[in-house]
Amino acid sequence: MGPRIQVFLLVISIQILVVAAATNSIDVAALSALKSIWKNTPPNWIGSDPCGTSWEGISCTNSRVTVIILAGTDLKGSLSSDIISLSELQYLDLSNNKGLTGTLPSSIGNLNKLSILMLVGCSFFGPIPDSIGSLEELFFLSLNSNSFSGPIPPSIGNLSSLSWLDLTDNKLNGTIPISSGTTTGLDMLVNARHFHLGKNQLFGSIPSQLFSSNMNLIHAVLDNNQLTGNIPSTLGHVQTLEIVRLDWNSLDGSVPSNLNNLTIVSELYLSNNNLSGSVPNLTGMNLLNYVMMENTQLQGQIPPNLFSLPQLQTVVLSNNRLNGTLDVGTDYSNQLTLIDLQDNSITNLTQRTGSNIDLILAGNPICERAGATESYCTVQKPNSSNLIPSNNCASMECSSNKVTSPNCKCSHPYTGTLHFISFSFSNVKNLSYNKALVGSLMSAFLSTQLPVDSIFLSNPVIDVDSYVQFRTQIFPTGQDRFNRTGISGVGSLLNRNPLQLRSSFGPFFFIDESYCCFAGTGKSTNTGIIIGAAVGSSVLVLLLIGMGFYAFYQKRRAKRAAERNPFASWVPNKNSDSIPQLKGARWFSFEELKKCTGSFSEASIIGSGGYGKVYRGTLVSGQLVAIKRAQQGSLQGALEFKTEIELLSRIHHKNVVNLVGFCYEHGEQMLVYEYVPNGTLGENLSGKSRIQMDWMRRLSLALDSAQGLAYLHELADPPIIHRDIKSNNILLDDHLNAKVADFGLSKLMGDVKKGYVTTQVKGTLGYMDPEYYMTQQLTEKSDVYSFGVVLLELVTARAPIHRGKHIVREVKEAMEQSNDAYDLDEILDPRLETTPVGLDKFVVLAMRCVMDSAAERPTMGEVVREIENIIEMANANANLPTPSLSYETEGSIHNPYDNQDSVGYSAGFSALNIWHG
Ligand SMILES: *[C@@H]1O[C@H](CO)[C@@H](O)[C@H](O)[C@H]1NC(C)=O
Ligand SMILES: *[C@@H]1O[C@H](CO)[C@@H](O)[C@H](O)[C@H]1NC(C)=O
Ligand SMILES: *[C@@H]1O[C@H](CO)[C@@H](O)[C@H](O)[C@H]1NC(C)=O
Ligand SMILES: *[C@@H]1O[C@H](CO)[C@@H](O)[C@H](O)[C@H]1NC(C)=O
Ligand SMILES: *[C@@H]1O[C@H](CO)[C@@H](O)[C@H](O)[C@H]1NC(C)=O
Ligand SMILES: *[C@@H]1O[C@H](CO)[C@@H](O)[C@H](O)[C@H]1NC(C)=O
Ligand SMILES: *[C@@H]1O[C@H](CO)[C@@H](O)[C@H](O)[C@H]1NC(C)=O
Repeated sequence: MGPRIQVFLLVISIQILVVAAATNSIDVAALSALKSIWKNTPPNWIGSDPCGTSWEGISCTNSRVTVIILAGTDLKGSLSSDIISLSELQYLDLSNNKGLTGTLPSSIGNLNKLSILMLVGCSFFGPIPDSIGSLEELFFLSLNSNSFSGPIPPSIGNLSSLSWLDLTDNKLNGTIPISSGTTTGLDMLVNARHFHLGKNQLFGSIPSQLFSSNMNLIHAVLDNNQLTGNIPSTLGHVQTLEIVRLDWNSLDGSVPSNLNNLTIVSELYLSNNNLSGSVPNLTGMNLLNYVMMENTQLQGQIPPNLFSLPQLQTVVLSNNRLNGTLDVGTDYSNQLTLIDLQDNSITNLTQRTGSNIDLILAGNPICERAGATESYCTVQKPNSSNLIPSNNCASMECSSNKVTSPNCKCSHPYTGTLHFISFSFSNVKNLSYNKALVGSLMSAFLSTQLPVDSIFLSNPVIDVDSYVQFRTQIFPTGQDRFNRTGISGVGSLLNRNPLQLRSSFGPFFFIDESYCCFAGTGKSTNTGIIIGAAVGSSVLVLLLIGMGFYAFYQKRRAKRAAERNPFASWVPNKNSDSIPQLKGARWFSFEELKKCTGSFSEASIIGSGGYGKVYRGTLVSGQLVAIKRAQQGSLQGALEFKTEIELLSRIHHKNVVNLVGFCYEHGEQMLVYEYVPNGTLGENLSGKSRIQMDWMRRLSLALDSAQGLAYLHELADPPIIHRDIKSNNILLDDHLNAKVADFGLSKLMGDVKKGYVTTQVKGTLGYMDPEYYMTQQLTEKSDVYSFGVVLLELVTARAPIHRGKHIVREVKEAMEQSNDAYDLDEILDPRLETTPVGLDKFVVLAMRCVMDSAAERPTMGEVVREIENIIEMANANANLPTPSLSYETEGSIHNPYDNQDSVGYSAGFSALNIWHG
């Protein structure tokens, strides 16, 4: 080795020493340990100097790691106690990494400099460790949308700096902890501004000690729990409150009159409780704009001066026992847009003439006399056509799966859902609200120098929990994609709820869809999602341009035009008058579909039936699709076809098969669906596939399909009755998630007045609700019946009609014969272990679903919750965190769409009936 080389080496080693000194060695070790545990850490996490070489997501102060923000970066793994060596850490945000799972280590309590801890939308479970109460500096704690269980640790009461406590959407149970001589509790958090404890399983009463006049709370959010007892009158002492949500509990007693002291509350939600007494005097709540008290059993007369509150916008008091005369008065708020009093006992009405309030009195005696024709006697569902801002770049086409931003740039947006915990109903579907929200979000991003070009908000939905969701696309500036720092920054900012946003729009959280293509890595994953988003929003933009504002006039002309060419309103055409209803589904040319199926070759056929054939195809983008092609004689009317596409294109749920697009050209009608590769539930139960159908898997499939169906019933707008639920209409995807398919016989519930639709009976023998069969009155409960049959199939692996006997009868008989009501071995699928955990509960649930009387059957929402409970029980027993997903993939499963054994009862072709039966 010559002298020059020695010098060179010396220089290098000195450099390494100097650089390495930039990061404290304990911190280096801790981060290296995390790097080895986590998958998908940023690619620039190399070397041994995180601070000096600016590892993405890491910020340092004086060679110590103080900030870790790696939100939405697809990290996988657990939060190991290695992290506690980062003893100077102040800000930790790992939100929106659905691959982060396991329990929170108790040692997290050693991070005593931590002031911000955000783990929103990960997959953590188990108890929140008591040691969290040792994080003395903690100011902002957001653990929402995980699966934390067990009680809220009383030690949280130690956190005297805590301002933001968000535990929304977990599985926390137990009572709300309050302090006593020896223990701490939430009542001690007098500096806290936010208690967001909704969507959990908390029980017991709301302790009156929880609230006091020296608190500074602005949001008391306890909705969607199992709380009982009275609303404590101490709530009325917290004069700082702005939002009070106690809805979806089992609270009883009357509403304390001193709530009227809460002069700056703007939103009050007490719906869905068992309250008694009368509607309280609220006229002291000067800023009130949203009052939700439906389904609470309130009685008596409505105080006439309620409507004079100056800011009042929406009053929902439906499903109570309110009586007498409704006196809207004359000096009501000019903001007032909706008074919903459906299903009460109102007999008379006094209102100013020419009032333009949306008043609903259907289901009251005043509307029950013969010939009641007043507009307030009919329920007009809120107009579901969302006004979405159009942009000027609609005609722009973007290449390689990019999406057109509202500023006419092609890029990969960061997509997710904003969930608002409170909202003003009348605003949600309002264009100016959307614009104001976009404006505030933009200014928040720009003021923190995040590289955001523009934002597109669409699909406002009020979900089952009365939270509002907006689909959100955030477009990058400078480059066509965000890097990890950008994604993390955007997600972290949103979940921090910047004050200017929160104060105008209420608290919210952001759950993302994993990002397709971080800049700086060169590798792109998840193209399916990008394609979907790209296709969806560019078509939407295309459709919206020039149309939205022509919506409200020339209706009749539009209708006539529609009969000639019902698709006219879907193409960008200034003269079109009807609101586009198509969301996310794409128009395919005949040529395109012909090409991707090899000219509809025999080899690509994956199913067939009376209506035509189903082909497998590969789109130019590489996406696999199932194409259903109607044959001559099965074609439906153009208008009918259009209606069904509109219906299907609005359906987006992970447990429902997604419509990708359609073709209506050359006299053809075709529907293009996502391809779901792992066969039907029926096939998998029949043992023809290689997927192991153990008990946990069956439970998880039952849950998936119940969720899909609950979505159709409870969340789809308008709600949809499936009408042909059966095991062969439930498909399994790559990850063995179940998806509900085939709305071939679906029926919109939109115009239902009495809660049912009278129809010609359709369905599949063995699954059909006997009550529906006899009365021809279709309700959601008919699907519940069919789903009950599917649950029984999951247990028995027998067809619904087996040796001439119906499965429901067989199970009933087996239950009656055995001494122990649940000794079901005789009918249990022999491939299952004997008496799997939760079997009895599962069978009881199934039998409730197939009760003769529809009224006695549970709703799909209840079915979902019950299956969740069973899974939890079985998991606890098996000591497994989640249903195991291992399966044998080797070998291909036979033709997944080729159902043979189902007896079709349906008449004729329906465009949506892709998997025939
Ligand atoms: C609360 O949840 C935990 C964990 O899920 C469970 O073990 C416990 O039994 C529950 N407690 C009550 C009182 O329901
Ligand atoms: C925190 O709370 C727990 C339980 O209430 C209590 O035992 C403990 O002493 C408190 N710790 C501190 C540091 O105040
Ligand atoms: C609050 O309400 C009660 C009863 O309605 C009343 O007596 C009391 O004076 C009010 N307190 C304040 C501070 O307004
Ligand atoms: C309702 O409350 C307001 C303000 O607190 C009060 O002025 C009014 O008298 C009350 N009305 C009734 C009927 O008690
Ligand atoms: C309204 O209901 C209340 C309580 O149920 C009852 O006392 C009252 O007489 C009813 N008023 C009218 C006008 O029916
Ligand atoms: C409703 O009230 C008005 C005015 O008080 C009265 O003229 C009318 O007869 C009432 N109608 C009914 C059905 O009671
Ligand atoms: C990430 O992107 C931002 C702006 O787009 C840029 O300033 C930053 O240097 C990038 N970071 C890395 C590690 O590439």
